[in-house]
Amino acid sequence: MPTVAVNTPSAKYPVEIGRGLLRTLAARCKKAVGGKLPRVFIITQPEIWGLWGERVAASFQEPPTVLFVPAGERHKRMRTLERLCEELAEAGADRDSLLVALGGGVIGDITGFLAAIYMRGIRYVQAPTTLLAQVDSSVGGKTGVNLAAGKNLVGTFSHPLAVFADMEVLGTLPARELRAGLQESVKAGIIRDAKLFATMEKNREAILDGDAKALEQVVTASVRMKARVVQLDERESGLRMVLNFGHTVGHAIEAATKYKQLLHGEAIGWGMIAALEIARNRGLVTRRQHDRVLRLILWYGPLPVFHVPAKRLVALTAGDKKNRGGVRRFVLPKGIGATVTVTDVSAQELASGIEAMLAVMRQAGR
Ligand SMILES: NC(=O)c1ccc[n+]([C@@H]2O[C@H](COP(=O)([O-])OP(=O)(O)OC[C@H]3O[C@@H](n4cnc5c(N)ncnc54)[C@H](O)[C@@H]3O)[C@@H](O)[C@H]2O)c1
Ligand SMILES: [Zn+2]
Repeated sequence: MPTVAVNTPSAKYPVEIGRGLLRTLAARCKKAVGGKLPRVFIITQPEIWGLWGERVAASFQEPPTVLFVPAGERHKRMRTLERLCEELAEAGADRDSLLVALGGGVIGDITGFLAAIYMRGIRYVQAPTTLLAQVDSSVGGKTGVNLAAGKNLVGTFSHPLAVFADMEVLGTLPARELRAGLQESVKAGIIRDAKLFATMEKNREAILDGDAKALEQVVTASVRMKARVVQLDERESGLRMVLNFGHTVGHAIEAATKYKQLLHGEAIGWGMIAALEIARNRGLVTRRQHDRVLRLILWYGPLPVFHVPAKRLVALTAGDKKNRGGVRRFVLPKGIGATVTVTDVSAQELASGIEAMLAVMRQAGR
């Protein structure tokens, strides 16, 4: 079974990737804590527990306590944390207890933060159940919740003891969620891993079909890429920035559509296309490389059409006013498998990249 080691200055833990991991979750937790299994508290959503709870519970001798959070990004808030803290205390959770995050990125982000603050910090493991959580949010130690003013504005770095990514849970994931999550793997290929890129071209049918073996390969390579980057730059002082490829414009699209029309990965798909067009105008990718990248992003679509003028997206992207007429840092592809980070993308250059992206959208919408 593939295991990727995450090694940062503050933590060292394995990401285990395979089939049927949830069946043996208790034994895996025991190994992760390195001794007798303490009391276990599973944080999950009712829908996920309904689908996978029986399998998970069957692996434990002592039944774990299950705490629920309703599905939806709107529950990723401080009030949910406070309620969970009260429920943990009420149920007798102590400093030795272990939390298990069983769910997508929302559950992972809440549980990691909860583990960091309950009794000033207890241990937790991640059992990510969405592709996005497996390849992205469960690795790297960023945890947190949203404020009315914006997403992920409160949180902390808090690493799990281990991550268990079971390919079988992806079997119940809606196809749209799977495809959106795969855009983060497409991103991984474009920025740092030409081999992953080629695998995603070659095996696209099996991957999109949800074939466990094909997915295992993609998840492993994606996690390996993220682990390498996080290892070199745990706190996002420099290199970790490359993970933001596609996210500058992607976040603007999410904000402009009020986080309702597109899934995160879909917005990132469009954002990667905008960055690709800027890279093409600068001669950072050849025509052939441009076409391959564009085709791969669209294969892992469909990316929903939205109606926002380029001007509005430029304004939302520009952010820092100090840069007058320019944008802050921008990650652009350089060929396939490498990037450059630039600071001199003008508003006009950005606008033409976004216009080119909208042209692709019109073409794809036909
Ligand atoms: N911490 C990080 O580094 C990081 C990185 C990227 C994203 N995130 C965060 O992750 C969140 C998005 O995560 P997500 O895309 O996993 O969304 P999500 O957690 O909301 O899950 C998406 C939907 O899929 C359902 N679901 C989950 N697993 C399922 C399964 N196996 N079968 C059927 N249904 C299932 C969920 O109930 C939910 O309705 C955002 O809050 C984002 O900010 C964090
Ligand atoms: Zn992302």
